[in-house]
Amino acid sequence: MIIKPIEWTGTSVKLIDQTKIPYEYTTVEINTYKEMATAIKDMIVRGAPAIGVAGAFGVALGARETTDLKKLKEIGEYLKATRPTAVNLMWAVDKQINYAAGLITGITPDKLIENAVNILNDDIDRCKRIGDHGATIVPKGATILTHCNAGALATAGYGTALGVVRSAYANDPTVQVFADETRPRQQGAKLTAWELVNEGIPVTLITDGMCGYFMKKGMIDLVVVGADRIAANGDAANKIGTYTVAIAAKAHNIPFYVAAPHSTIDMSLESGDLIEIEERDREEVTHINGKLICPEGVNVINPGFDVTPAEYITGIITETGIHKPSELVLAV
Ligand code: MRU
Repeated sequence: MIIKPIEWTGTSVKLIDQTKIPYEYTTVEINTYKEMATAIKDMIVRGAPAIGVAGAFGVALGARETTDLKKLKEIGEYLKATRPTAVNLMWAVDKQINYAAGLITGITPDKLIENAVNILNDDIDRCKRIGDHGATIVPKGATILTHCNAGALATAGYGTALGVVRSAYANDPTVQVFADETRPRQQGAKLTAWELVNEGIPVTLITDGMCGYFMKKGMIDLVVVGADRIAANGDAANKIGTYTVAIAAKAHNIPFYVAAPHSTIDMSLESGDLIEIEERDREEVTHINGKLICPEGVNVINPGFDVTPAEYITGIITETGIHKPSELVLAV
C-alpha cells in the first residue's frame, strides 16, 4: 500500500485522517483554506513536512477566494498560526507566497495548485534521498529505535526517519525497528507501528520509559528520529520525549541521528533555545481515547516538543548527505 497523506484530486485536497488510524482508514476532502487550517490544527494532517505541503495547498485554496497578494499573505499568516514549532509550515507557505508574488501574468488558483503539487513531489524526492544517505549508516541486522512518527504519514510520502528505515530494509531485510509509543498522542503506537506492520517491516512497540532498559541490554544499535525545526547550531526540536531518548543513547554510546530535509532547518535561529514550543491541550494527557486516566482537576502541563542539544546528535541526515550538527551551516 502506497501511503499518500495529501493528494490533489483535481478539485480538492484529500487528506488521510491521521486521528483515526489505526482504527479506521478514512480520508477527508478539503475545499477551503479555513478547512485546511482546521485540519492542521486538529492534526488530521501532522508531521513537519506534511503540514508544510498542506500549508502550500492551503494558500492555493485561498487563491480561490482572493487573488490579491496582500490578502493572500494574510491567508498565509492564518495558516502559519495553526502550529508554531514545525518550520516546514512557514517554509512552504512562504514559498507559495513568493511564487505568487513572482507571477507576472497574474495569480490564479491553478498556478498555485501546480506549485503545491511541485512542493509535494519535491518532498517525496527529498525523503528518498534522505533514506538513501541514511541507509549507509545502518549496520547489517541493526535494530533502530525511533520516536513519534517520522514516516510516510508525516511527509508527502516515504518519510524521513522511516525513510531511512525503508531504504535500509530494502538492502537488508534483517533490519528491525523498536517504536516508542510516544505519549501523549501515541504517534509511535498508532502511526509508526501501523505503517511498518502494513509494510511487513519488523517492528516492536515499547512504551516511552523503556528505551534505557533495552539500550542497557544492548538491544538497540542506533536511534533515528525526525525533526520539526533544527537551529543553525544543530539543536533539533522534535516530539516531546526525544531529548530523553538522546540522553539515554549518549549514556549507552549509541549513535543518535536526526533525519530531516533542508526545509526543517531554520538558519535564522542561532540555537534551539529560540524555538517556540507548542503547548497543547491538557486533555491529551488526562485522557486516552476519550477516557479519563487520572483524578479530575490534577495539574497538567503538555509541551508538544522538546529540543535535543547538538552535542547529543551524532549526525543530521538530509537530502544532501549526513552532516555533523556543528557543520550544518556549511551544508545549507
Ligand atoms: O505533533 P506531530 O505529530 O506533528 O509531531 C511530529 C513529529 O514530532 C515528527 O517527529 C516530526 O514532525 C518529523 S516528521 C518527518
